Amino acid sequence: MKVFNKLLILVLLLSAPLMVQANESGVHLDKAPIDLQNTASLQRGAILFASRCLACHSASYMRYNRLLDIGMTEKQIKKDLELPEDIKLGSTMQSVMDSNSAKLAFGVTPPDLSVIARSRSADWLYSYMRSFYVDAKSASGWNNTTFPNVAMPFPLADLQGSQALHLENVNGHELKKLVIETPGTLCADGNPSCAAAYDNTVADLVNYLVFMSDPSKLVRAKLGYIVIGFLLLMFGLVYALKKEVWKELH
Ligand code: HEC
Repeated sequence: MKVFNKLLILVLLLSAPLMVQANESGVHLDKAPIDLQNTASLQRGAILFASRCLACHSASYMRYNRLLDIGMTEKQIKKDLELPEDIKLGSTMQSVMDSNSAKLAFGVTPPDLSVIARSRSADWLYSYMRSFYVDAKSASGWNNTTFPNVAMPFPLADLQGSQALHLENVNGHELKKLVIETPGTLCADGNPSCAAAYDNTVADLVNYLVFMSDPSKLVRAKLGYIVIGFLLLMFGLVYALKKEVWKELH
């Protein structure tokens, strides 16, 4: 029983930071479907990140050649990320925009995104990229329910389309609801599952941001399997040896 109590306390202590993280922002966060084993999703996310985010943000701790770890070849990295032919793949991901012009344009410098998944959490990012709405009162024309009054214009507006904020009164509580007003390109040809297609696109992007915030995690996980495999093999061998040695003594 004592052991059980101790275990319970340990579990509670370990989960405390998670609870704090969930309550911090006060807004509801959707669960991000993260799967670091899904290299196709990570690759799609990397391509999206390069084409949609590097215009304003850098990822100064991330080197292009780290993308080899998610199954891309050097040729693919250059071609799919539309990098100049003479770029060194060992260089870090730098924004096209320098921070002074960014500050002039947006009033704030877009932060480095290398470890954003660790500082904000995957669920926050997944919710953030899905909660932009049109707001005529904001300088960029956009606002966001996860990050109110954010200075960032919505970089995936062509894909999702534009949402409007509707306030509904449910049992005396004001409920914020986002409704698509103009459908995006994912809805072209009347695609009925375009909302799910957009969620999948954001999932790929966030999956990549999680990978980028700790790229060696994949290598560590692989190493873990190798170590466990080795231990199992050794156990089998040692057990067989023990049986062999003790056979005659029994
Ligand atoms: C046109 C420039 C621009 C582009 C493109 C852009 N951002 Fe931003 N982003 C900003 C600015 C400016 C801020 C700062 C907003 C603020 O603090 O109000 C920001 C803030 C953020 C934040 C919040 C950081 C924090 O913790 O405060 C995240 C996350 C983010 N961007 C992710 C992305 C992702 C992912 C993409 C690509 C899909 C992207 N951004 C594309 C300009 C941009």
